[in-house]
Amino acid sequence: MRPFDGRRVLLVVTGGISAYKSVVVLRRLIEYGADVEVLMTEAAEQMVGAVTFGALSGRPVHRGLWEQPLAHIELGRDADAIVVAPATANILAKLATGLADDLASATLLAAAAPILVAPAMNTRMWENPATQANIEALTAAGIARVGPASGPLAEGESGPGRMEEPETILTHVGRLLERESVLLGHKVVVTAGPTLAPLDPVRFLGNRSSGRMGFALAASAWRRGAEVVVVCGPTSVDPPVGPRVVRVERADEMLEALRAELDGAAVLAMAAAVADFRAGSPSDGKLKKDDGPGLDLKLETGPDLLVETLEQRRANSVFTLGFALETEDGEANARRKLRDKGMDMVALNPAGEPDAGFDVDTNRVTIIESNDLTEELPLLAKHEVADRLLDRIEERLGGATG
Ligand SMILES: Cc1cc2nc3c(=O)[nH]c(=O)nc-3n(C[C@H](O)[C@H](O)[C@H](O)COP(=O)(O)O)c2cc1C
Repeated sequence: MRPFDGRRVLLVVTGGISAYKSVVVLRRLIEYGADVEVLMTEAAEQMVGAVTFGALSGRPVHRGLWEQPLAHIELGRDADAIVVAPATANILAKLATGLADDLASATLLAAAAPILVAPAMNTRMWENPATQANIEALTAAGIARVGPASGPLAEGESGPGRMEEPETILTHVGRLLERESVLLGHKVVVTAGPTLAPLDPVRFLGNRSSGRMGFALAASAWRRGAEVVVVCGPTSVDPPVGPRVVRVERADEMLEALRAELDGAAVLAMAAAVADFRAGSPSDGKLKKDDGPGLDLKLETGPDLLVETLEQRRANSVFTLGFALETEDGEANARRKLRDKGMDMVALNPAGEPDAGFDVDTNRVTIIESNDLTEELPLLAKHEVADRLLDRIEERLGGATG
């Protein structure tokens, strides 16, 4: 799975109690197709046996400085990314001050690959000014960090110090592996999910959008190093790790949030299913069955977010991707929308396919571009569709944002 396939990852396990969770980190890395070497400190081996990591990686675990004379130089040079999980207070201190008295610290000091640390320790160890100073130094030196999270700790206390969950760590490793993207450091705004149009204080008109397509785009853009904001309507699907999430309910709230985010953005991806219609005058009180037989609903057209943001997008040269679901004349209609609404790319969804579009994990889209290119993608997982779309966006932006 992108971006792990065939990439070399060095997993450094140090002596924290959460070393047992690193077994899951290793398993996932392998499942995602990474080529993983494991290095354990002496203290780590007190927590979990090297046999477990060796059996899962299918390779001997690197342990001592004196076992292979040049391992401390080669391991960090040959890797595409290094993840230290858990990272003890001790290894953070060594890395911050340049100590190299065992295989882990010497390898990290000699590393050419980008490093991610996942600190895990007792809250007082974490909050100690010495640890905090080390973290500051590591951040200044460009070392990436994930966590620690807050919550119950092994010793029965609670507070910041828990190692982040394996999936979260994996997402951050993914970001480390995609540092070549032209999106690196650029702002990407994504809309996701449905918007609701209230009829009365408890009822609304909505749609089946789950937010999955937008979340997949946000996750992929974040992994490519972008600063991502996802403006999303109500959904029960968890948003991705990384992007900032702005929650809204109605179309006019989504428009307001977009206006606030678009200045300085390089890309806008409009994956939300924004309600086209809203009640002309929503009732202040709950509509009652015995108010009369049936209910006469007067609907009016809601704001068109693409039209409303056209000027702002032009002024900021925001590359805009939209989604279109057409029941007939799909391509011609999508091309017209592309032109009229100032978009650079449209992902055309087929209507009425059970495995594509709303509320499923897969999608089939045709990419239609303002430069007259068209590409029909096969049925793919939404995260793959997101990757293909962002690949195309990267190609189009080329040196333009760089
Ligand atoms: C049971 C036990 C649990 C420990 N858990 C942690 C921990 O979660 N985080 C930490 O920084 N140190 C922890 N320590 C202390 C480290 O193991 C100790 O500082 C050790 O020197 C770290 O070595 P290393 O960084 O080379 O792995 C723990 C020690 C023991 C005995």
